[in-house]
Amino acid sequence: MEKKSYKLVLLGDTAVGKSSIANRHAKGQFFEFQEPTIGAAFITNDIMVNQEKIQLQIWDTAGQERFKNITRAYYRGANGIILVYDVKSKETFDSIRTWFQDIKELSRGDQPLVLLANKSDKKKDQVVSNNEGEALAKELNADFFEVSAKIRYNVDEAFLCIATKGTKYKADSRD
Ligand code: GTP
Ligand code: MG
Repeated sequence: MEKKSYKLVLLGDTAVGKSSIANRHAKGQFFEFQEPTIGAAFITNDIMVNQEKIQLQIWDTAGQERFKNITRAYYRGANGIILVYDVKSKETFDSIRTWFQDIKELSRGDQPLVLLANKSDKKKDQVVSNNEGEALAKELNADFFEVSAKIRYNVDEAFLCIATKGTKYKADSRD
């Protein structure tokens, strides 16, 4: 029997930790000096969802503004979108609405969403409260997870959540 696969897309401003989250989940690795992504990176990981093996095809996009046009090509056909901000940066939190608008404009816009508050290991420097994160997630109809790629907190849980929602979602078949 052919293995099921799901396309997931990671979106969010540069340096919020998208690559770190993808690498932590798929490879169990974390780097203090993670290079900014150029365009997009692709990584896969097999996980069990409801006793079924699913291949996650994770598109880790670049957050830098100059790659915006490239990143946009990845929205369509996704079974799930993972939005990420850095709890130490209000600016990256405010950008989530912009990323969300983009998704709505450039795709069918009904993909399952999760919102990740990353770098939660940096409690001292946290400027965006979890309550704010939860409220935004509710508004966007997304699930919310406080995560840390660094200390592997809630990362796998977040992927399991979006994959489980993805099983119920029929992706855009145009691509
Ligand atoms: P772009 O590819 O430019 O869009 O950035 P990105 O979102 O992929 O961020 P990246 O994963 O490259 O991480 C940026 C920096 O944040 C790196 O130095 C990471 O080590 C650091 N970082 C990522 N996740 C965490 C975390 O959970 N905690 C802490 N303390 N640092 C983190
Ligand atoms: Mg990256």
